Amino acid sequence: MHKEKTIGVLTGGGDSPGINAALRAIVRRALAEPAQVIAFTDGWRGLVEDEGRPLRLTDVSGILHVGGTVLGTSRTNPFRKVTRDGEVHWEPTEKVQAIKETWQRRGLDALISIGGDDTLGVAHRLSAYGLPMVGIPQTIDNDIAGTDYSIGFHSALVTVTDALDKLHTTAHAHHRLLVLEVMGRDSGWIALLGGMAGGADVLLVPESEFSVDTVEEQIRQRLEQGKRFSIIVVAEGATPKELEGRQVTRGEVDAFGHVQLGGIGYWLADQLKARGNLEMTPRVTVLAYLQRGGIAAPFDRLLATRFGVAAVEFALDGQTDVMTGLQGTQVVPVPLGSALAGTPKPLDPELVRVAKSIGLS
Ligand code: F6P
Repeated sequence: MHKEKTIGVLTGGGDSPGINAALRAIVRRALAEPAQVIAFTDGWRGLVEDEGRPLRLTDVSGILHVGGTVLGTSRTNPFRKVTRDGEVHWEPTEKVQAIKETWQRRGLDALISIGGDDTLGVAHRLSAYGLPMVGIPQTIDNDIAGTDYSIGFHSALVTVTDALDKLHTTAHAHHRLLVLEVMGRDSGWIALLGGMAGGADVLLVPESEFSVDTVEEQIRQRLEQGKRFSIIVVAEGATPKELEGRQVTRGEVDAFGHVQLGGIGYWLADQLKARGNLEMTPRVTVLAYLQRGGIAAPFDRLLATRFGVAAVEFALDGQTDVMTGLQGTQVVPVPLGSALAGTPKPLDPELVRVAKSIGLS
């Protein structure tokens, strides 16, 4: 008789709606095998500190639609070493040894990590130590290569579209210029698709530098056409020519070396106001963490369910150093190395063409 397999699972990095749906699918699929699932708390920290518990069916019931993650998350990075003089190096730390010990103690056969490029990057590095790793891409940014979509992106689009629908009515009533700043880090997927779905008038994405002159000209043209309100969607990582291509940041740097972004919406509004050429005073909305919260969109629930089932099957098949990827209609194993090498995933040129063809920048 073969030994029942034990699969670990953790959720790392910035959360998004749909993670819990993936956890539910993982547990249901594994227990049907039967295989055991051990859940670790707060991302890689739970594995380092061996904070884990078996997941039963009752632990994942009622969570299909719920945002966040019942396991908790963190941005713990076991490969981040800070020297005495404050320099940050990327090398295995004592945390990697602790992970190996947890692995032995728990008798893990594989680990499923659900997260963005940072979480998946750690999984990729750990697989080099002979620890079988399967990833599930999850991020509202949709910036991971090798998959058409990551869990959470469509839920964020629902929030952006809803915000734009609401901004439209007040912009129209007050004849205003409104700026909506959205997340996405260095990637413009949320801004482009959310902006198109919500009918924004100007779209500013990190993938192409913008100038305040051009934005002003676009708004002026709309005024000339009798459009007495306008809505600009700007991605938090968008780079203005006037700042020599630099992003607007908040200063804080996380364990993976990412500087916190935010503020470009206010910066742009201030620039437009200071010029005084438009009769409308811009007002700003920063959508921020609202995009990561709330209930999971149907698309994300389905994607997460498919990814959860596939991840268990890949793990039981002995696949390692791969993640689940949606390519067309198929869920396929994608080597983590190639997915990470292509991240951030470029915008779909066809979608950019469509946006441009209807007058969006
Ligand atoms: O990667 C998801 C994301 O929400 C980005 O869009 C954003 O720049 C970042 O995380 C914010 O990170 P934190 O949760 O550390 O503030």
